[in-house]
Amino acid sequence: MMDEEFEILKKVIIEKIGFFPERYKERPLMRRIAVRMRHIKINSYLEYARLLERNIKEQDLLHKTLTINVSKFFRNYVTFRRIKEAVLPQLLREKEKRGGIIKIWCGGCATGEECYTIAMLLDEFLREKKSSVVFSVIGTDIDEDSLNTAQIGCYENKAFDETPEYFLKKYFKKDEKFCVLKKVKEKVKFVKLDIEEENMYLKELDLILFRNVLIYMKRTFQEKILLKIYNRLNERGFLVLGKVETLVGETKLLFTIVDSKERIFRKCRILKR
Ligand SMILES: C[S@@+](CC[C@H](N)C(=O)[O-])C[C@H]1O[C@@H](n2cnc3c(N)ncnc32)[C@H](O)[C@@H]1O
Repeated sequence: MMDEEFEILKKVIIEKIGFFPERYKERPLMRRIAVRMRHIKINSYLEYARLLERNIKEQDLLHKTLTINVSKFFRNYVTFRRIKEAVLPQLLREKEKRGGIIKIWCGGCATGEECYTIAMLLDEFLREKKSSVVFSVIGTDIDEDSLNTAQIGCYENKAFDETPEYFLKKYFKKDEKFCVLKKVKEKVKFVKLDIEEENMYLKELDLILFRNVLIYMKRTFQEKILLKIYNRLNERGFLVLGKVETLVGETKLLFTIVDSKERIFRKCRILKR
């Protein structure tokens, strides 16, 4: 009975908030739904489904609870240091040889900190190398509120506990909050998009940051998405996953490891066997 009720609730979640529960790990998903149910003192899935059907405010609140939007600048600082050492020089060499712009995608970018971090890092790197190569960053997410915050580009102190002082001084204007400078904002574009959906910008990418999104997904869906990522990358493009995420199934054969600890991978020219 409980299973049946949960199935009904899942259908309402798909229909009313456009979130697909089947893709995500069930226990954490149930825990997050339980948070909302406890909050409004409902203990039957069926009753909650009925309320969700007609209550737009609850739809918003559940959506927020299901999409975990925490992020910060230079999250896992060492990962960005390794991107600078092991990825950016390769990308620059490639573009200087063949022309074209460096295209970066942050999938599941939440409130935008990751997109701005990579944009600042690249801006700094290109300046150090006195290069005129151009770059662009696109950040996508399913959560509209997060993307609105990203678009505004102003953040509280807590977003910076891993950020070197140098970047804070150089790339932000301090008002009530720290706001990203226009020259960095101009490089970054945000689009509301499900990870599965196609978009004209998401092809021939040189670097994909797909961090702390996969972890919430079921293994079969992880594999499907990693395959999509592979197809969206340029020949020899790079992929960075979150610190506790990794390649699964067949996708292990599609990438070489650049840095196993920092979860940096590079697309293989041919399938490894
Ligand atoms: C924990 S945040 C990660 C933010 C950032 N990548 C980082 O590591 O700091 C996970 C984000 O993934 C987004 N997300 C979850 N499922 C998604 C999907 N199917 N398509 C696009 N974004 C998704 C959520 O809305 C959330 O903003």
